[in-house]
Amino acid sequence: MRRILFLVTLAAFFSSAPAEAKKEVDPKLYGSPEGQVCIKCHELKTPGLYKMWREGRMGQAGVNCYDCHRAEKQTAKGPGDPDGHDHRGFWIAQLVTPKDCSKCHKEQFDQQQPSHHANAANILNSLDNYLGTVLGGGAAVATGCRQCHGSNVRVLDDGKLDPVTWPNTGIGRINPDGSKGSCSACHTRHRFSVGQARRPDACGKCHLGPDHPQIEIYNESKHGILYQAYRDKLNIDAVEWVVGVDYQDAATCATCHISATPNQKATHDVGSRISWTLRPVVSKKLENWRERREAMKDVCMQCHGTPMIDGFYLQFDDLVELYNTKFAIPARDMRQALMDMGKLSKANFDDKLDWTYWELWHHEGRRARHGAAMSGPDYAWWHGLYEVSKHFYGDFIPEVQDLLGWKAGAFLEKHVYSDPRHRWYKEGMSKEELEKLNTFYEQRYGGEVAK
Ligand code: HEC
Ligand code: HEC
Ligand code: HEC
Ligand code: HEC
Ligand code: HEC
Ligand code: HEC
Ligand code: HEC
Ligand code: HEC
Repeated sequence: MRRILFLVTLAAFFSSAPAEAKKEVDPKLYGSPEGQVCIKCHELKTPGLYKMWREGRMGQAGVNCYDCHRAEKQTAKGPGDPDGHDHRGFWIAQLVTPKDCSKCHKEQFDQQQPSHHANAANILNSLDNYLGTVLGGGAAVATGCRQCHGSNVRVLDDGKLDPVTWPNTGIGRINPDGSKGSCSACHTRHRFSVGQARRPDACGKCHLGPDHPQIEIYNESKHGILYQAYRDKLNIDAVEWVVGVDYQDAATCATCHISATPNQKATHDVGSRISWTLRPVVSKKLENWRERREAMKDVCMQCHGTPMIDGFYLQFDDLVELYNTKFAIPARDMRQALMDMGKLSKANFDDKLDWTYWELWHHEGRRARHGAAMSGPDYAWWHGLYEVSKHFYGDFIPEVQDLLGWKAGAFLEKHVYSDPRHRWYKEGMSKEELEKLNTFYEQRYGGEVAK
């Protein structure tokens, strides 16, 4: 019964979202005559910027400077644009926010605003932020965190932007008009190209590094290899870009997370096809995770068969469960218990164990989960679960023993050794296991034994 209900929901999900031709923007909305004045002067004064705009699809269509940069003045009807200021006789704004773009692209705006992306500047109370502001310092947050997550853009009295908070194209930038994010995080100005945003590098500015190496994982995956081999055959700058119809040789980040299939439209909510959250200490399935997963599978189905896709998800789920149950939950519970016992301070990052724990889940455990999610085997294992195991057994447990002394035995029995997957650490390798290893290396390397 549940299965039938589920299939019905799915059918409804897809039938409500068939791929259809893109809606034209109403021509009355653009091509303001004032724009010609801006163009004439800027063609000479900022020729690089001018040419980028001119080459882009919006420039070609006649969407001009004033269409985007025009600001509303304060009137009896409303407060106007907080960053409006006079510029050569025109009232303009430096910022062009998602709300400004939404005049002509409401659908993309409506999908983007509630997404995790648009809300990414909401990190004030996170552990990462404590690290950034207290252990690091404000300037590091402005040039680091905020360039990816987004700043809170402040306007000075003269309508100009506070330079501490801008330049910034962070994905969740908080704009003075109340809208969130910045569309040029992916559609870089002034071409605002759709093809540029479909290329993996558009995402790689932020999705890289020790704690979320998606671009590195992608580059080592078959999908990334195919992208490098066939990047010129993907029709990537076309208006319509439906996988299996307009291209087939490789999947980019956008293919899987954003772009259309024959059964579903493109979406500006990048979370709508993921079923797990791989970010926290312990991964959880998201609300409506089945629908989200079916939406992703529909992408895979354009190039793969069901056994391949189901096999992939089984291996991925197993890795997440392994990380969760074997390492993350015991480590979390032990650290909490040590705090409750007064053996560790309640503060973060002032004990050695705090750091071991932090890197275990925030760096190594995430890398393992992301590696499995996007078929990057080196990240699933060597940069991932290998590091998790090494530091769980080699640092975390010895640190617990240092803190608890003779009491550690019972404590570890309860949290760790009660799980048979950890018993090897207490009991060592069996004689048979050692013998098998020796024979393997003798046969392989002729007498060179691993010891
Ligand atoms: C007579 C020349 C001239 C005209 C006309 C002109 N600009 Fe500019 N504008 C400049 C120059 C030069 C700069 C760079 C120096 C600076 O920042 O003041 C600039 C800077 C800017 C900036 C960034 C700084 C700021 O004040 O926000 C924006 C945005 C801008 N122009 C948009 C426009 C728009 C939109 C129009 C038409 C409504 C326009 N410009 C008309 C010459 C001009
Ligand atoms: C489709 C909308 C759009 C159009 C059309 C457009 N701009 Fe912009 N412009 C933006 C956005 C977005 C930014 C980045 C501001 C921000 O951070 O929100 C920007 C930034 C700028 C800046 C500051 C850039 C820098 O790097 O210093 C200048 C100057 C500027 N625009 C001038 C122009 C001029 C001149 C034209 C016409 C030739 C033009 N813009 C057309 C959206 C637009
Ligand atoms: C005044 C109306 C208007 C505004 C404001 C506007 N756009 Fe557009 N946009 C258009 C039109 C019209 C087209 C279609 C051009 C065509 O295909 O002929 C377009 C096309 C696009 C495309 C497709 C480009 C491609 O390479 O196919 C992107 C992406 C885009 N806009 C992003 C933005 C962003 C981001 C902003 C805000 C910074 C913005 N637009 C603001 C009217 C607008
Ligand atoms: C290079 C870009 C970049 C920098 C720099 C960066 N982050 Fe992030 N951050 C990301 C990305 C991308 C994610 C999402 C990772 C994922 O989903 O795997 C993320 C995730 C997070 C999360 C988890 C959000 C959630 O919903 O669980 C927090 C909190 C966070 N970052 C805070 C910070 C803070 C604070 C700093 C600076 C001390 C910082 N980040 C620096 C790109 C960055
Ligand atoms: C996370 C990156 C990202 C951000 C942020 C983003 N876009 Fe896009 N956008 C894309 C990608 C990728 C495509 C191509 C989808 C496809 O293949 O059709 C796209 C396509 C578009 C198109 C072409 C029509 C379509 O849906 O294919 C428009 C218009 C557009 N975006 C406007 C916007 C506006 C407006 C914003 C800000 C509210 C925005 N985008 C923010 C990545 C982004
Ligand atoms: C300017 C930085 C930046 C860029 C560019 C960027 N992202 Fe992100 N992305 C983030 C941050 C930060 C988060 C974490 C947001 C949070 O949870 O607070 C995130 C989260 C995500 C998530 C998880 C969403 C969810 O609902 O949990 C996906 C999937 C994602 N990004 C895909 C992409 C793709 C695909 C692209 C390129 C088309 C891209 N991102 C471009 C910064 C960026
Ligand atoms: C072949 C399809 C595919 C490609 C290509 C792909 N992804 Fe993913 N991505 C996935 C799948 C599948 C998941 C896991 C979904 C789930 O949780 O069910 C995922 C998960 C994610 C997450 C969520 C991580 C979290 O912390 O929860 C982010 C962020 C992300 N991808 C970003 C990217 C970026 C950036 C690229 C390109 C560099 C990319 N993806 C390329 C399929 C893909
Ligand atoms: C545009 C076509 C395309 C899309 C979409 C696509 N793939 Fe692939 N994928 C391929 C091709 C081609 C290969 C290479 C097969 C081989 O190994 O010969 C591949 C390889 C793989 C591999 C094997 C990795 C390895 O190293 O052997 C897995 C697993 C996989 N894809 C899963 C997925 C999943 C899951 C999705 C959806 C989230 C997906 N793919 C979406 C084309 C695609």
